[in-house]
Amino acid sequence: MAPLENPFNMIESAVDCLRQQTSLILVDFHAEATSEKIAMGWLLDGKVSLVVGTHTHVQTADEKILPRGTGYLTDAGFCGPHLSVIGREIEPVIQGFKTMAPMRLPVADGWGKMQGVLVDVEISSGQVKRIERISRDLGSVVRHS
Ligand SMILES: [Fe+2]
Repeated sequence: MAPLENPFNMIESAVDCLRQQTSLILVDFHAEATSEKIAMGWLLDGKVSLVVGTHTHVQTADEKILPRGTGYLTDAGFCGPHLSVIGREIEPVIQGFKTMAPMRLPVADGWGKMQGVLVDVEISSGQVKRIERISRDLGSVVRHS
């Protein structure tokens, strides 16, 4: 397998191989486009327990159980300071976009959240029986330097 092979062309054989060892398979699809993540969810419905997207850091509100029992969420969000630009201090990010110059982007302090997804999975079948998107306030988050 080539290191940059199209995931849509290789995921089914990888899942078939894993299914010989376990019924519990979680796919973290680290991708930019929501359409790619949604399509991957449909491709893997009934073949894996959960397809959850990551990378954008912005939690989506489309958690669902697909018709063949796969839990799905387009993006899990992120854990950390939310008064930020996806976890970084706001002003340096804005300056970076204005100047297009390389910029140091410190991790932000402030109001934090923990985001993700909880699922109940039937072990024998690997099917998700309940899915819950979570987003909890953590209060003030302080950076450790
Ligand atoms: Fe990423």
